[in-house]
Amino acid sequence: TGMFTYDPGFMATAACESAITYIDGDKGQLLYRGYPIDQLATNCDFLSVAYLIMNGELPSPDQKRDFDNLVTHHTLVHEQMHTFLQGFRRDAHPMAVLTGLVGALSAFYHDSTDITNPRHREVSAIRLIAKLPTLVAMAYKHSLGQPFIYPQNDLSYTGNFLRMMFATPCDDYQVNDVVERALDRIFILHADHEQNASTSTVRLCGSSGTNPFAAIAAGVACLWGPAHGGANEACLNMLESIQAQGGVAKVGEFMEKVKDKNSGVRLMGFGHRVYKNYDPRAKLMQETCREVLGALGLENDPLFKLAMELERIALEDKYFVDRKLYPNVDFYSGIVQRAIGIPTSLFTAIFALARTVGWIAQWNEMLSDPDYKIGRPRQLYTGAAVRNVK
Ligand code: CMC
Repeated sequence: TGMFTYDPGFMATAACESAITYIDGDKGQLLYRGYPIDQLATNCDFLSVAYLIMNGELPSPDQKRDFDNLVTHHTLVHEQMHTFLQGFRRDAHPMAVLTGLVGALSAFYHDSTDITNPRHREVSAIRLIAKLPTLVAMAYKHSLGQPFIYPQNDLSYTGNFLRMMFATPCDDYQVNDVVERALDRIFILHADHEQNASTSTVRLCGSSGTNPFAAIAAGVACLWGPAHGGANEACLNMLESIQAQGGVAKVGEFMEKVKDKNSGVRLMGFGHRVYKNYDPRAKLMQETCREVLGALGLENDPLFKLAMELERIALEDKYFVDRKLYPNVDFYSGIVQRAIGIPTSLFTAIFALARTVGWIAQWNEMLSDPDYKIGRPRQLYTGAAVRNVK
């Protein structure tokens, strides 16, 4: 391949150094800043994990209180963002709306876009982490035609998001502890995942020196695709479609289609570029699923049964075993989200909300390196040789 290494899909190319997240795909291990994901998901809340990812250490109680206050202080968005939102059709996909809203933030916060200034970078990071729940809830309320619920800052990050999603001015919404804990855990499990497609997009976009809101909007856009964050929505649609055709009884037939390369059908929520063993996030998500369904009296949820059966069959089937295909984070997350009342079309926006932490931390890590360069892949040219216009 001449001067360049040819590696489409980046199967074997490291594009950066990073001290944030470690994945051992053969062992099925995931660490944020050295801490195993199961310990973080069990013992910490999302904002502690966000602090860890951004700063490298878990916060002390004082640091945690200050960080929570700081994030809370930035939850409001400019009123004109509402005007901007009104321009979207009510049936627009929430990821289309979110890409627009996040990009539009760059038109409002000029005071924090000097990317060479670490203080500015920090304020932008806090603004993004604080405002994403507000924006996702706004997108949801817009789709319903309901009035927007302003953030309430004495609630937790996740409690506040649930209230903005589900309260109306006519009723007094009470946050359910089990639901809050489950959603907080979903946020933790999605917070970072080293150099996946959307994170690499944020780095590449940010490497030109563009402002952080624009770079994160690029990440949101990349996440949307069904091979990436869009898989949670695609997975739930798949489960519902199998259910509608007869449920567990139809699993065998469906699996034949998945194994037929000409069908174009994949088992969504399965497989991963890096994990060649069980995705530890899927394990935690399955546990959360069981807890939430139990607490909400939905133990017999047919989609959960169906997902378990698909997993059972896949893990014994030669096709999946040979290719080392296991459930990934998206396989069970939709069932949890559905149980707590989040509509399917919003699943990927929830993913984006959580992944904003990883995106902005990785963007900051890149810009903190004095030797960083603009990302500029090369190509192997396959077009016409030089010729003349006649
Ligand atoms: N169902 C059926 N076959 C599959 C699947 C699947 N879900 N995933 C991979 N394969 C097969 C694939 O056809 C190929 O077979 P062969 O070697 O015979 O050609 C082999 O397994 C390797 O797959 P690949 O597409 O070359 O692997 P990749 O590393 O390029 O893709 C992936 C990884 C995640 C895009 C892919 O596994 C996939 O499309 N999964 C379904 C979508 C999904 O769940 N995405 C979420 C990823 S995890 C979290 C996130 O980013 O959101």
